[in-house]
Amino acid sequence: AANKKLLVLPGDGIGPEVMREVVRVIDWMDRKRRVSFDLVEDLVGGASIDARGAPITPDTVARAKEADAVLFGSVGGPKWETLGFDMRPELAILTLRRELGLFANLRPAIVLDPLLNASTLKPEIVKGLDLMIVRESTGGIYFGEPRGVETLADGSKRGFNTEVYSTPEIERVARVAFDLARKRQSRVCSVEKANVMESGLLWRQTVTALQQREYPDIELSHMYADNCAMQLVRNPRQFDVIVTTNLFGDLLSDLASMLTGSLGMLPSATLGAPDSSGRRHALYEPIHGSAPDIAGKGIANPLAQMLSFAMLLRYSFDMQEDAEMIERACTNVLASGLRTADVMAPGCAKVGTHVMGEAVLRELDKLAG
Ligand code: NAD
Ligand code: IPM
Ligand code: MN
Repeated sequence: AANKKLLVLPGDGIGPEVMREVVRVIDWMDRKRRVSFDLVEDLVGGASIDARGAPITPDTVARAKEADAVLFGSVGGPKWETLGFDMRPELAILTLRRELGLFANLRPAIVLDPLLNASTLKPEIVKGLDLMIVRESTGGIYFGEPRGVETLADGSKRGFNTEVYSTPEIERVARVAFDLARKRQSRVCSVEKANVMESGLLWRQTVTALQQREYPDIELSHMYADNCAMQLVRNPRQFDVIVTTNLFGDLLSDLASMLTGSLGMLPSATLGAPDSSGRRHALYEPIHGSAPDIAGKGIANPLAQMLSFAMLLRYSFDMQEDAEMIERACTNVLASGLRTADVMAPGCAKVGTHVMGEAVLRELDKLAG
């Protein structure tokens, strides 16, 4: 078979630091598992602004469209914070989601046993948690029109953004959630603010109708987003799959990351619709950002990026065994007591990004026999 084409986009801040460790795992797979990846690396975010004058170029978008999968790091930082919205590093990831039609952002929150004591919540609340947040990622208030800032007659200003959802947009992301639930505990909780927003009420009605029509086997519940935030902290294991809007999904997934111990642990997959040949665009990235406060120090947790690559193997190439092996390697390394600072616990050894990456490689060697 032809080599699998991967576009690697490290980005800014800790992006390149954690990506370096993952590229070593990809090389390892080439050598030890005889799966060949054609890696193309490119600039995005602030790195692309500095070198090319734009957060992402049309060439890079074209490469992303040609690739079988995109592995994305993180973008942004104080250096570029004062630029306009048409020039910000963050536009790179928004453009990729939009141009590749990546509407379903899968953000799993899984509590690994070795990290039970790293969560800020009591172990008995989070033990065994396995939650999937499906965040809509090409619509809602992130992209709705009108948007902008205008100056009023009295010289004061007015900034505005618009939350917009159409029924097809709601249905396609809800289908992804229902299909995932079928392979899990068959429970979906749909989250919006139907009590305040028209787009939220349409969301609720559309998801309800779809469940009745196509997914009678799935147990559907609804929750307002504010209550959902509270319930995630009170009793996170009540949830199986959560499906929600772009903005609420952004907030709730950062919240869910702390149930697992650290933002540095959570991977994600962002998927488009399959075409007639079954091929679909897909991008994989940690949910964390470029972490300017720790960038350059070599202490970032590389596991969210590592686990994003495992998701890539699972969702883009159906390589379940290899995906599980990488996930197991990460769990075993944590169980051995090696920790980056963000998941440090009493009795563990604190290590940096590179030593953590090394340990995962050594563990992979062991697991592969
Ligand atoms: P952030 O996720 O970068 O960092 C939040 C906190 O979590 C920081 O204290 C950071 O040190 C910590 N953290 C994050 N990842 C970590 C890791 N792997 N290991 C250890 N600690 C980690 O969020 P922020 O500080 O609000 O944003 C910083 C920049 O990143 C901004 O420019 C923002 O727009 C951007 N951002 C980009 C993405 C992306 O590229 N997908 C996602 C979120 C934020
Ligand atoms: C994320 C990030 C992005 C988002 C930013 C960087 C545009 O926070 O992927 O969670 O808000 O979607
Ligand atoms: Mn976010």
